[in-house]
Amino acid sequence: MPKIAVLVGSLRRESLNRQYAHAIEKIAAGRLDFRYVDMDLPLYNEDLWVSPPDKVVQLKAAIADADGVLIVTPEYNRSVPAVTKNAIDWASRPYGQNAWKGKPVAVTGASPGRQGTAVSQSQLRSTLVILETVVMGGPEVYMTFTKDLLDAGGAFASPDTAKFIDGFVESFARWVQLTGGRS
Ligand code: FNR
Repeated sequence: MPKIAVLVGSLRRESLNRQYAHAIEKIAAGRLDFRYVDMDLPLYNEDLWVSPPDKVVQLKAAIADADGVLIVTPEYNRSVPAVTKNAIDWASRPYGQNAWKGKPVAVTGASPGRQGTAVSQSQLRSTLVILETVVMGGPEVYMTFTKDLLDAGGAFASPDTAKFIDGFVESFARWVQLTGGRS
């Protein structure tokens, strides 16, 4: 089964985006193997490459080892949160050792607002293109996180939402299969 490194761009315990990622994982069971990456990294500092922090080494290894990467990110002030961008920047360096190169990547995100991280995702896609990822253009999923989105077990409560996310998962599984292994 394809291994998917999952980057959730929020550190807080009750993160809506982490809950959303786990709900996607339930739909993806049997098709994609989700492996969550520790995103609680130091801020990017070029000087630290002399002796890189363990978590940075683990992040780079997790992306290198994965068949694909799923980024589940909030939107902060109509942009990409620092947590998400920081992980992307670390994995792109040192110069010439860009862990993103050739990786199939899908992006989604959840927000209580109606536009459901659309701006954040759009900006993120621009960055992912220049990092030479093979970013899945669609389907786009901008999830509005309402209080009844998930059931008590953390699965999508509505069959329509579950079906919609199933389509996203299926597209990503196919995308990983079609584009994986490029470098
Ligand atoms: C937000 N939030 C937010 N939401 C949104 O849809 N568009 C935005 O531009 C912003 N801006 C923003 C800035 C800052 C600094 C914070 C802290 C929050 C609200 C955000 O979607 C909400 O806090 C989510 O719950 C964040 O995701 P997690 O941490 O729950 O995964």
